[in-house]
Amino acid sequence: MIKTVSELTGVKSEVKTMLVTGGAGFIGSNFIHYMLKQEKDIFIVNLDKLTYAGNLENLKDIENRKNYKFLKGDICDSRLLDIIFKEYDFDFVVHFAAESHVDRSILEPNIFIETNVVGTASLLCSAKKKWEESEWHEKRFLQISTDEVYGSLREDKKSDKFTEKTSLKPRSPYSASKASADHLVKSYFYTYGLPTLITRCSNNYGPYQFPEKLIPLIINNALNNKMLPVYGDGKNIRDWLYVEDHCDAIYTVLRKGKPGEVYNIGGNNELENIYIVNKICEMLDELYPIKNNLKFKIQNLKSVSYKDLITYVKDRLGHDRRYAIDATKMKKDLGWAPHSVFEEKLKDTIGWYLKNRDWVKHVTTGEYEKYYERMYD
Ligand code: NAD
Ligand code: TYD
Repeated sequence: MIKTVSELTGVKSEVKTMLVTGGAGFIGSNFIHYMLKQEKDIFIVNLDKLTYAGNLENLKDIENRKNYKFLKGDICDSRLLDIIFKEYDFDFVVHFAAESHVDRSILEPNIFIETNVVGTASLLCSAKKKWEESEWHEKRFLQISTDEVYGSLREDKKSDKFTEKTSLKPRSPYSASKASADHLVKSYFYTYGLPTLITRCSNNYGPYQFPEKLIPLIINNALNNKMLPVYGDGKNIRDWLYVEDHCDAIYTVLRKGKPGEVYNIGGNNELENIYIVNKICEMLDELYPIKNNLKFKIQNLKSVSYKDLITYVKDRLGHDRRYAIDATKMKKDLGWAPHSVFEEKLKDTIGWYLKNRDWVKHVTTGEYEKYYERMYD
């Protein structure tokens, strides 16, 4: 017999149930924290395979909440998905789970196709199967996508930005897999009327980001007296979005967005990579000067600034030159705009990494996998 949410949890049955996939990753874990703060009548199921990028330590403070449940599982496992959809009768699906790092997609593209394309297809299929048993017009399936599906912009035409009407021209295996998933999501809307929405955001930064992405990698390498690799000429441009602004935008789209629509989410912070790397070094020089950093005691005693570690390296293959988001539709249709000031939030983020050196150590040594075993096995 199918258990209701109230039978499973003791939480009253009017609560909305939400499936978050990939909730142990960077944005997913920030989103779960955010949602639990915003909504008291919500029950969140976090389905995550716990790949190298998934870390339950990110959710340690809420793991015993009555209205939160973690399930270890793969979004490509259709049987498992059918069981979960039956058991919880979700009102919302917020789909973050993905392989998310461009450099990895260049080295090993196939896992990106498996997770990002096949996984999304499986999720859509299970959602439709369950939701078509009754009225589904109030349900929402939100695909978390990326501005990278639009391809690359010219750096010399600053007025060019990605709008929701820009055609998809993905150029890396990662962005091609996300674009394929977006097409599948749209196909379920057009073919079956499944109430799907897509958000496409720019580069996120903030707490709990795995130190393979630019900002946490630079912070972590600098603190450990390792070189700070800048690809190519360092002048590639990304638009940086603070993760909490992103969570707020997702919440807005879930409440006010129209099924079938795409919404671009950006931070209004177009910056060259080298600017960011220099900024991080300057902030670290102030917050944690090299003279206090034990990692510098043995070698490199002459360094006075983390900037001495900056090293230009070979460019990434097919490196997209510039991304820039036009988020007018979010503002005009849904009343959302980003609030964060880049320099302030970058400083907060550096502060978070300085305070959470153990978290970084655990994710870089694989120690965090033991956390799952202790908690759930
Ligand atoms: P992340 O790599 O930090 O986390 C991904 C999560 O998905 C991990 O917890 C991982 O264990 C889980 N996962 C991977 N394969 C899975 C599978 N087969 N089944 C279940 N779970 C699986 O990613 P992120 O940076 O938090 O990104 C989240 C989403 O946002 C992704 O879809 C990504 O494409 C998109 N996005 C991210 C950014 C960014 O700047 N980080 C920008 C634009 C879009
Ligand atoms: P990244 O954080 O990997 O995000 P994405 O490739 O999805 O935009 O990289 C952001 C930018 O920083 C991108 O232009 C590549 C560049 N980069 C470096 O210069 N050095 C690095 O070590 C990394 C990881 C990225």
